[in-house]
Amino acid sequence: VQNPGQRRHASKHRFFVVDLSQALFDFVIQLLPTAEEMAVKEDVRKLLERLIRTIEPDSRLLSFGSTANGFSLRNSDMDLCCLIDSGERLSASDLVTMLGDLLERETKFHVKPLPHARIPIVKLSLDPSPGLPSGIACDIGFENRLALENTRLLMCYAMIDPTRVRTLVLFLKVWSKRRKINSPYQGTLSSYGYVLLVIYFLVHVKNPPVLPNLQQMPPLRPISQEDTHIGGHNTWFFDDIELLCQRWQSSNTESVAELLIDFFRYYSRDFSYNTGVASIRAGLLKKESKGWQNDLSNSKFNDARERNRFCIEDPFETDFNVARCVTKEGLYQIRGEFMRASRILAMRPRAIMALSQLCEE
Ligand code: GTP
Ligand code: MG
Repeated sequence: VQNPGQRRHASKHRFFVVDLSQALFDFVIQLLPTAEEMAVKEDVRKLLERLIRTIEPDSRLLSFGSTANGFSLRNSDMDLCCLIDSGERLSASDLVTMLGDLLERETKFHVKPLPHARIPIVKLSLDPSPGLPSGIACDIGFENRLALENTRLLMCYAMIDPTRVRTLVLFLKVWSKRRKINSPYQGTLSSYGYVLLVIYFLVHVKNPPVLPNLQQMPPLRPISQEDTHIGGHNTWFFDDIELLCQRWQSSNTESVAELLIDFFRYYSRDFSYNTGVASIRAGLLKKESKGWQNDLSNSKFNDARERNRFCIEDPFETDFNVARCVTKEGLYQIRGEFMRASRILAMRPRAIMALSQLCEE
């Protein structure tokens, strides 16, 4: 039985989360790309595909990343992947060099080919113009089938519970960009990393879960090794979302605000950064079991330690730490931001104020 003080407290909290959920929807909606922006991007993709086909006639240019998985914000960059269907083909680095030359000659894009990067890409950009106030930034890679599949996995997760999943992810993307903790080149985490943290939280931390584990559900029919493996990595997951939604419904009824508050609390207090690995495929794993431990006693592992401060397993490339770029300082900053967010929300300011304070630049 609650006393009057507790009742007042509980009802104040209920009002706060209702307001905050509404404010989160409103906030996120105004940051979505316009139909016009999406159309321009599709035109750019088609134009580039036509040009690439003058070098490789049997090629397709596909979108991945945020433009394809439903987590796109206004003016986000385009990630494109070129697939070549014919048997004989040039190496990725030769293609990057040739395509770079071609685009330089034939288009108005600024072109920067990176043929010797770990994943060879051509970087393109267009300066802002009246019709395109933020310009366009675009990366073209080759044969990156794993990225296409992980994009599809994230899209399927978003489709199961579009309102809660997309609102949380989009808000966290904006928040992490405004708070300057979304740049792997400066020791913090990529958008892809944040999306995996959200899905991990909704599948494995929340009880009852908000999302099922698509990689561990029984398949509908026998599956062959050949159909499901890319470069030795198992990329199978349950992707018939329509059927899934007929058979499975989350019994978690928390609002998006409650989930956000709990997300910040979990990653500021409860996640075991020193020993844990967040895996959407398998739940919480130990760094030790993956050979990702922080071995302070052995200088040989210094490098491994720097790479594995924060560990998020890629859903398919399971030997790959998506947070490998996060440095000691970067992790300190990220955790500091999770704590700051928790603190702000614990004070229950007016919802609109809470969001603007959270995302203060
Ligand atoms: P914004 O560009 O910030 O809007 O976010 P985004 O959703 O496009 O994410 P990001 O640019 O971080 O990544 C784009 C896509 O590249 C992801 O959806 C993945 O498919 C792929 N990707 C990015 N980083 C990694 C990585 O470290 N490992 C793997 N395997 N794929 C990655
Ligand atoms: Mg992107």
